[in-house]
Amino acid sequence: TTVYVFNGPNLNLLGVRKPEVYGTTVLADVEALCATAAAGHGLELDFRQTNHEGTLVDWIQEAGAAVVRGEALGLVLNAAAYTHTSVALHDAIEGAQLPTVEVHISNVHGREEFRHHSYVSPVAAGIVVGFGVDGYALAIDGLVRKLRPVRS
Ligand code: DQA
Repeated sequence: TTVYVFNGPNLNLLGVRKPEVYGTTVLADVEALCATAAAGHGLELDFRQTNHEGTLVDWIQEAGAAVVRGEALGLVLNAAAYTHTSVALHDAIEGAQLPTVEVHISNVHGREEFRHHSYVSPVAAGIVVGFGVDGYALAIDGLVRKLRPVRS
């Protein structure tokens, strides 16, 4: 079973771009951290990054189909700036009925007003905000706990 982790625009520059906000960890380190978290639950990791909105839509549709086939658990999504702009991402997640945890490295609610609204949040299973890159591991754990409850 696969857990998907998709990253949106500019996250290829993680560790270089605004380190005072996003830290010095690079995206390859985030992938390694996610691989460890996924393996801890016996899951395969499919980790990707794109700067293109439509590519994220294609990937969300692909991930949703894999969930329907019973081959995947769900998605951890840091849609980055598209979080705040993209009705297309909202519709893709909703349409795919894809269990999705929204992640932001920074606390978007403590930043500029335009980062306070998310098109992803209304269709997310949960949200992890402001825990730095550790949020990705928390999101994987949270997704597993939500979909495979360990207690009643
Ligand atoms: C971000 C927050 C967004 O507002 C911003 O556009 C990003 C990264 C985060 O992880 O904190 O690119 O999603």
